[in-house]
Amino acid sequence: MTNSPKRYLITAALPYANGLKHIGHLAGAYLPADIYVRYLRAQKRDVAFICGSDEHGTAIPIQAMKEGTTPRAIIDKYHELIRQNFADLGISFDIYHRTSEPLHHETAQEFFTYLNSRGDLEVKESEQYYDEEAKTFLADRYIVGTCPVCGNTRAYGDQCENCGTSLSPEMLLHPHSTLSGKPPVKRSTRHWYLPLDKHEDFLREWILKEHKDDWRATVIGQCKSWIDGGLQPRAVTRDLDWGVKVPLPDAEGKVLYVWFDAPIGYISATRQWGLNTGKDWRPYWYDKDTKLVHFIGKDNIVFHCIIFPIMLKLHGNILPDNVPANEFMNLEGDKMSTSRNWKLEMEDYINDFIKKDNGGPQLADSLRYYLTTISPETKDSEFTWKGFQDANNSELVSKFGNFVNRTFVLMHKLCNGKVPPLHPDRFDDADREIIAAIEATPAKVEKLLEEYRFRDAQFEVIMLSDLANKYMQKKEPWIVVRTLEETPENQQLIDNCLHLCLQVTANLAILINPFLPFTARKMLHLMKVVEKMLDWENAGKLKLLSVGYSLRAPELLFRKIEDAEVKEQIGKLQAASEARIADAVGEPAGAVGTAGALAGNPPSPEAAAGKEAAVKPAIGYDDFAKLDLRVGTIVTAEKVEKADKLLKLGIDLGSEQRTIVSGIALHFKPEEIVGRQVVVVANLSPRKMRGIESNGMILMAEDPSGKLYFVQPGEKIQPGSGVS
Ligand code: 2FM
Ligand code: ZN
Repeated sequence: MTNSPKRYLITAALPYANGLKHIGHLAGAYLPADIYVRYLRAQKRDVAFICGSDEHGTAIPIQAMKEGTTPRAIIDKYHELIRQNFADLGISFDIYHRTSEPLHHETAQEFFTYLNSRGDLEVKESEQYYDEEAKTFLADRYIVGTCPVCGNTRAYGDQCENCGTSLSPEMLLHPHSTLSGKPPVKRSTRHWYLPLDKHEDFLREWILKEHKDDWRATVIGQCKSWIDGGLQPRAVTRDLDWGVKVPLPDAEGKVLYVWFDAPIGYISATRQWGLNTGKDWRPYWYDKDTKLVHFIGKDNIVFHCIIFPIMLKLHGNILPDNVPANEFMNLEGDKMSTSRNWKLEMEDYINDFIKKDNGGPQLADSLRYYLTTISPETKDSEFTWKGFQDANNSELVSKFGNFVNRTFVLMHKLCNGKVPPLHPDRFDDADREIIAAIEATPAKVEKLLEEYRFRDAQFEVIMLSDLANKYMQKKEPWIVVRTLEETPENQQLIDNCLHLCLQVTANLAILINPFLPFTARKMLHLMKVVEKMLDWENAGKLKLLSVGYSLRAPELLFRKIEDAEVKEQIGKLQAASEARIADAVGEPAGAVGTAGALAGNPPSPEAAAGKEAAVKPAIGYDDFAKLDLRVGTIVTAEKVEKADKLLKLGIDLGSEQRTIVSGIALHFKPEEIVGRQVVVVANLSPRKMRGIESNGMILMAEDPSGKLYFVQPGEKIQPGSGVS
């Protein structure tokens, strides 16, 4: 596709309306999409920017159960909150639609019917988990059990949120239904499948050949490993009562799989946008001269690069031209996670910075700026509050903001608040260099944006402000005034410097607009010019502000982020995470152990019911061999402050001393257990609890009444001895 298609259709992943979204989501899809769209709009391209709430799937009824309300109440609440959060951060969708809208149900049903009527889907009977008490088939998320990889007893049938492993319900040890708490049984059911395997040749040709050079290597890599791994038919229906009903007479109680209906949400949203604006939506999805780009996070790659394109091809739609998926953004040294409360929600940032007295939209731009400087375009990246402060204070405040402010202050002081004239016959090399930089920067930024390299593109803009700062520093118009005679010749030098600095300022407004839209508008206000000046075709021009035009008094574009704010945010993050872990530890212990990464486990249903647990499904020796079990001696034990259930244990492991935080304080007094030998899982990832890093887990046995016993060797042996 050339760089000048007739129109652009830009989508950003539809967020699940089951909870607030964090800045990892923002940086993953919405911010880069918004930068790209703002750039296209400035180029006066025909563009539709599509997003909305993904309101189906089991995540919604599960959240409703958690909040003790209905799925409808959940989607209404979170749709509105998320929509508003995006607006506060300047994400400028043309429509923020909802998959619960009748227009979406109709669009998704039509899509399914079309594929089914043409024989593109297969129908198959299969065995699936069924809850006999709740009388319903169980979606993967409704089945909870023990993760075969890390031992988390709260792993879901599709994923373990403790270690991130993708699972299928069959892989769970000790599965039970979240509806009744009972182990599920297998029952036969009928479903419609999209035979991905039949489209392998198309995918190989389209992705691995046609797009091998213009799609990100990370995206191509994931696609290749899916294709090489062998594509399988994928069920596109589910036994569930929340979602888009399967539009067939013999499909009672079945809905479309959420990942079948959600991407069709892009189409229904475009239809609604057409209705709202009077534009014909069809060419956006059917005309080959449309450039379709999906902005997503890496966890959505398979759906947008493999499954949805097959659906689009079968349905006669255009295919995406690119899917610039981002990797993940970590937070202060750990993976961002809603379940572990290790996150910064957009809502919290908005409340703590933008809506504060000393806040305002400039703080939205501060976040946008930092997130783009660390955009995880090629690999996972890391948000730190210190990094945020540094980027804001030493780049936005000290470079960009400082340059614009000095320009305005000096122009008022030395040029009567008006754009001074230019005297080209007095130009020196420095003047010529800054002119060359003004003229050259737009093409560089443009090229990088067209290649979806947003962090490099933004860097070019900051570089121009940096260069302009240095230019002003070299010219020192304030010194000219103080040290040289007040002659027309000397005033010409001052005029040249400030004239060029003002033209740089106007150019910076245009170039920064896609990244920092609030700042660009504040600059327009200072320069007393209209929005039209931000048209991209003006970038690189030297006559954006006319000689003699009077400009407003200076105002600071950005404010500093103080150390106290950074400290407060880090404190909040730790407190929220620890509160959650301590809560979880407070629950009765599971049957296998306590503390460390397993501290968040609920009781097994059998333990809770006072029965013995059934033996878990068999595992291979390789799985068992991953555990590093060792004998240790408890050398110190003390209660953890403000945590009734936690003991901090010092464990002698022979070659080293370990600290392990264990949820056994209600069962044992610290002084009783010093000197005891225990069995330790020595290779469990460290986990912080109440500010203390716990390095491992001690094994405990639990009888049916819930009483805990240490697992220990029959006789005292050397600490550090292996257990196998
Ligand atoms: O991962 C998610 O949050 C999904 N709700 C994204 C859906 S994108 C599209 F297909 F709708
Ligand atoms: Zn796990």
